[in-house]
Amino acid sequence: MTLSLVTAGESHGPALVAILSGLPAGLVLDREAIDRDLRRRQEGYGRSPRQRIESDEVEVLAGLRHGRTLGTPLALVVRNGDHANWEWGMSPWPPEGEPSGKGTKPVTLPRPGHADLAGAQKYGLADVRDALERASARQTAVAVAAGAVAKALLREIGVEVEGTAVAGTDSAEIDAARADRDTLGGVVEVRARGVPPGLGSYASKDTRLDARLAAALMGIQAVKGVEIGDGFALATLRGSAAHDEIEPDRRRATNRAGGIEGGVSNGEEVVVRAAMKPLPTLMRPLRSVDLATGEPGEALVERSDTSAVEALAVVAEAAVAFELARAAREKFGGDALGDFVAAHRAYLERLP
Ligand SMILES: Cc1cc2nc3c(=O)[nH]c(=O)nc-3n(C[C@H](O)[C@H](O)[C@H](O)COP(=O)(O)O)c2cc1C
Repeated sequence: MTLSLVTAGESHGPALVAILSGLPAGLVLDREAIDRDLRRRQEGYGRSPRQRIESDEVEVLAGLRHGRTLGTPLALVVRNGDHANWEWGMSPWPPEGEPSGKGTKPVTLPRPGHADLAGAQKYGLADVRDALERASARQTAVAVAAGAVAKALLREIGVEVEGTAVAGTDSAEIDAARADRDTLGGVVEVRARGVPPGLGSYASKDTRLDARLAAALMGIQAVKGVEIGDGFALATLRGSAAHDEIEPDRRRATNRAGGIEGGVSNGEEVVVRAAMKPLPTLMRPLRSVDLATGEPGEALVERSDTSAVEALAVVAEAAVAFELARAAREKFGGDALGDFVAAHRAYLERLP
């Protein structure tokens, strides 16, 4: 039994969609808890006016009845309020009537640091918008909704996941960058408490929990570095100062490993960090080339955040929660929620 997630949706298209399969039947979902995470993703200092247009809310189309999962695929939707301004430009079918609203002219000035140029080359696109709409981090909204479902499942076995921004949140620095029409990045940390020992496996590299969490975080837009536990700092220490000695009760007084050894959770808090690069759309645009003419030009300027590190903390929390929930489904299985919870309890009882 495993958990899987497929998402679809463009930044200014009608909606973002997620399908989760592999949930047990009988998990109670709280609509307000999911919407609260969607709101948290929209907050944070340095966001663009887009966040005032959107007031994200989850809709459920399948897999839920009277607030309880059915054990069948769960279909989630988050609508794009801004689509009203892009109805012609982002119409899924050939648009009718005269061009109106936004997105009516092709984008030919790719932004450095975005998928714009590489995407246009890869897919043979004349309008860079065909690449940037899906590459945009707007799709993280529905991933946060999926993460909220994963957190509800994890809570049933006593696991709590929380993400916070730990660098790049200084409002004066963000104001200064905005005044210079520039952008900033930062660092986020996600901690998961109550993770039982034994999630993930050293059996192969794709089952290692550290590798899976790194991929989950690196899969988020603008994440360029991931650390597990003390990560890069460990490289400069002696072994005697870098590892977590085992006490008679099998616990540790330190947690430099970030709760994972040999690709397996060891029962300590799971601690991971992700580094976010400065956002690549600048109001003072970087040098680029016009793909239509070959002439030098300035990159597209499109409404954009100055900093999104606090939003990343919420997105990273969702990504870690989803991956831990997936590992927990693999270990404890069960078609009904009670089977899953009972398998977890029996496993803990088996541990000395
Ligand atoms: C929550 C969140 C919000 C973002 N908002 C913006 C933004 O407003 N402007 C921007 O240029 N990039 C933004 N990004 C980053 C880009 O989506 C990302 O840098 C780009 O798609 C290229 O992907 P890469 O950085 O992973 O190579 C955001 C990323 C996240 C996680």
